[in-house]
Amino acid sequence: MIIDWPGLRAAATAAAGRAYAPYSGLRVGAAGLAADGQVVTGCNVENASYGLTLCAECGLVSALAASGAGAPRMAGAQGPPALLAVAVVAGDGEPLLPCGRCRQLLLEAGGGDLLVDTAEGPVELKVLLPSAFSGTDLAARREQR
Ligand code: THU
Repeated sequence: MIIDWPGLRAAATAAAGRAYAPYSGLRVGAAGLAADGQVVTGCNVENASYGLTLCAECGLVSALAASGAGAPRMAGAQGPPALLAVAVVAGDGEPLLPCGRCRQLLLEAGGGDLLVDTAEGPVELKVLLPSAFSGTDLAARREQR
């Protein structure tokens, strides 16, 4: 699939414009290209109890599941990665690298081959999150109780 990076970045910028970030003043938008071709977005939503803040990528991954664009993988079934590419930007429309927690969240949806927009061009998530823990480790290492 051809990835429309300018379009993805524009969708992320539009989402950033709808962010609720009265505490940090950093508006963030995320847009992802789902495997079925749909574009899903998210924005950060802050809270007076700071630790409850939702990152833009959280909203994106939730939208991926809730919209059905991420099926079958995000519906809990076997299948290819639900997400192919993602752009995360600040309110100025320039790329912002996902925080550590969101890299882990994106890994579950897009796998290590997920392409992440950066100022230097697309980078695979496995480069941004090497030696990652995943569901494979969980299945292999969990103990019977
Ligand atoms: N933020 C995101 O939305 N995504 C990230 O990957 C980094 C941080 C938001 C959370 C908070 O609302 C603000 O940026 C400052 O940390």
